[in-house]
Amino acid sequence: MKINIRKTLPILIPILTFMLFGYTGGKMTKKSKNELSTEELLSKMTLDEKIGQMLQVDSDALDTPEDIKTYCIGSILSGGNSEIEDVSPQGWANFYDKLQSYAVQTRLKIPIIYGIDAVHGHNNVKGAVIFPHNIGLGCTNNPSLVEKACKVIAEEIAGTGIDWTFAPCVAVPQNERWGRTYEGFGEDPELVKELSEAAVKGFQGKDLSKPASVLACAKHFLGDGGTTNGTDQGNTKCDESTLRKIHLAGYISAIKAGVGSIMVSYSSWNGQKMHSNKYLLTDLLKGELGFKGFLVSDWAAIDQLSPDFKKDIEMSINAGLDMVMVPNGSKSKNNYKEFITYMKELVGEGKIPITRIDDAVGRILKVKFDMNLFNHPFADKSLTAKIGSKAHREVARECVRQSLVLLKNDNSTLPVSKRVKKLFVAGKGADNIGMQCGGWTISWQGEMGQVTTGGTTILQAIKNTVSKNTDVKYSLDGSGSEGSDLAVVVVGETPYAEMKGDREELNLSDEDIKLVEKVKQTGIPTVVVLLSGRPMIIDKALLNADAFVAAWLPGTEAEGITDVIFGDYNFAGKLSHSWPKNMEQVPINLNDKNYDPLFKYGFGLKYDHLKAKVLKH
Ligand code: BGC
Ligand code: BGC
Repeated sequence: MKINIRKTLPILIPILTFMLFGYTGGKMTKKSKNELSTEELLSKMTLDEKIGQMLQVDSDALDTPEDIKTYCIGSILSGGNSEIEDVSPQGWANFYDKLQSYAVQTRLKIPIIYGIDAVHGHNNVKGAVIFPHNIGLGCTNNPSLVEKACKVIAEEIAGTGIDWTFAPCVAVPQNERWGRTYEGFGEDPELVKELSEAAVKGFQGKDLSKPASVLACAKHFLGDGGTTNGTDQGNTKCDESTLRKIHLAGYISAIKAGVGSIMVSYSSWNGQKMHSNKYLLTDLLKGELGFKGFLVSDWAAIDQLSPDFKKDIEMSINAGLDMVMVPNGSKSKNNYKEFITYMKELVGEGKIPITRIDDAVGRILKVKFDMNLFNHPFADKSLTAKIGSKAHREVARECVRQSLVLLKNDNSTLPVSKRVKKLFVAGKGADNIGMQCGGWTISWQGEMGQVTTGGTTILQAIKNTVSKNTDVKYSLDGSGSEGSDLAVVVVGETPYAEMKGDREELNLSDEDIKLVEKVKQTGIPTVVVLLSGRPMIIDKALLNADAFVAAWLPGTEAEGITDVIFGDYNFAGKLSHSWPKNMEQVPINLNDKNYDPLFKYGFGLKYDHLKAKVLKH
């Protein structure tokens, strides 16, 4: 019998290896090779180099980029307000490469891992696609769509070189007064559980080492959405079983999906700050739940532990924190150079055991290996060109379509015919991309008007959709609606983010209520579209509206709205929050005693297919 060596060798080698070494239990996989490298690398590192890996500095705070090399800084972030000169995709990619070039010049050539708050798209980049904020994605109740969305976002992030997004926010907001309500998927832990897993899979892909995968970060651990009165960074008062039942859901599923990092919350649990809670950070997360990634602190959050920065470092690292976000430069208090000095002292004084340092650094290095950063430290420019592409926008548009919740539709006011003769459009949200996007868009708090991002406003989307013969008239304040066939009035909240978005009252503004009333009084059918980061108290506007759509903070692709209101698609969204009748009812959540909201959790009307013949889908 003739044996063809060329053909049989590929088959023979694994068999011979197996015979020689026995079953390796999958030990020859990339992972264990990495673990080995992590240990090898760790054993070569000095204390200074290890401390550097545990440090994350803001790009704005670096005294000089040389410091990345000098101090072997392990991570850089760009916060919501951090300015870089050129925020185009190429500008970001160049900026990333420049900072990375210092890291790869260090003795051990350990690359930095660069993080950013891409929380609804790569939202600090001009021309990136901005997706609906999570509250809207929650209303889609569609895990495969959320996974698809996060995959697109990952590709856009990777196109700028950036490795890591501080997302998904897996908070379970229990009180709509909280200004970060929109960052969570919804009030129900089950929904958060499902969508968090989907988001992590989307960001990280099947394999973190692939160029288009980015590291995800489930945040903010634990109980950020449960604070008394919905106060940002406040105190969550409840027993442990409630804490677990409501707030742990997203972490369990994110860990199951392999999330590589988790961010600790500013908030406290029963009076103790999360950043010093060893039981929850170490025993629960790393022990019981088997979390193998690393824990990063929130923005200067350890500074809140005590008046003494050195003590803050000691408490948080010993509680289980692995990487510390020290966003401040040497001109401010508690800056990254002090961090380095204090860390060295604490190890020297035996206050932080070296085993703790090795655990932290090992976790960080393992993620860097898993991401293949050592072999590919620089931006993959082939992905840069895809940022803001039509294909990406289509996915966001689909998310918008599925996120809209129809709350009222008297006399089948919707869908609107594309051949309507005279269409009237009004309200501050109608032609305002900034308001559509909300906070965390180009700047930290977001802003009204033409923010530095492309996209389509609702008014533009309407004009792109109606027939040639339709006369579209727009007026900000609602004057001149007389004689129109139908009005679309876009009202709601102006942009805000953490800290500044907390509200005692969630009433729609007087200005908005009066606007809806004024338009309605001219006797034309009135469709209200609400842009908001949470349910609002809408009673009067709802009464005056013939149809009412909760559109949340849809982002740049407003054609997802016109797809549905002009009947090409049906409504699919279901409320991810119970909708209160009045402020006395807030907080109101599914499973409350005497649950009697204006609209229940999961509510959402649809067109009747038989009547709405215009529907194409
Ligand atoms: C926020 C985080 C965010 C971080 C970095 C903090 O203030 O709470 O959600 O990831 O800043 O920008
Ligand atoms: C940063 C944000 C951060 C916030 C916290 C801002 O200046 O840009 O990213 O979350 O400060 O206070």
